[in-house]
Amino acid sequence: MPYPFYIEKPVHFDDKTGLADGVEPLERRYSDMKNMYLDEDRRKKLEADGNSIIYRFYDMGIPEKENDLVFGTSIVYPGKVGSEYHMTNGHFHTILDTAEIYLCQTGYGMMMMESPEGDVLYKEMRPGRAVYVPGRYAHRSINLSNTETLITFYVFRADAGHEYGSIKDKGFRKIVVEQDGEWAVIDNPRWKT
Ligand code: NI
Repeated sequence: MPYPFYIEKPVHFDDKTGLADGVEPLERRYSDMKNMYLDEDRRKKLEADGNSIIYRFYDMGIPEKENDLVFGTSIVYPGKVGSEYHMTNGHFHTILDTAEIYLCQTGYGMMMMESPEGDVLYKEMRPGRAVYVPGRYAHRSINLSNTETLITFYVFRADAGHEYGSIKDKGFRKIVVEQDGEWAVIDNPRWKT
């Protein structure tokens, strides 16, 4: 029986771009993130003005089985929507109590996490640093650099699944914005109980 490509030979991820040889990444553009940023007018403007890619990630087609592991890179390009840094949509795992590891390879960013009960955790990501996302916590990657691409490598249980739930309606409890040239974590005005 032939092996799937990711077992047959190691997958090579480029140091600089984070892209995998021979595998098409998925991508999310401004048009894919309606109402995800606080400044929706600015997002619309960026969509109309080139609609560039905010981030890329991988689906390797690994079977969604409990004993398999999904892996790949998340690549968040630098930029802001208004004062809010480029970020991923973020998700809970459908099997809520499943964890995930992110190893930062390039750039400077943050893993923002929150539990359904409202506990918030955020960890800075720098090259070589591994962030453990505990089970039950929604998670989102945020690029805190205005010039560098944030590349992280992730691994999680293949059947964990992605669930957007409350994130689609009101986002995370905290957002990260630039204030006087520095990042700041502030309450998300759109988030209401
Ligand atoms: Ni995840």
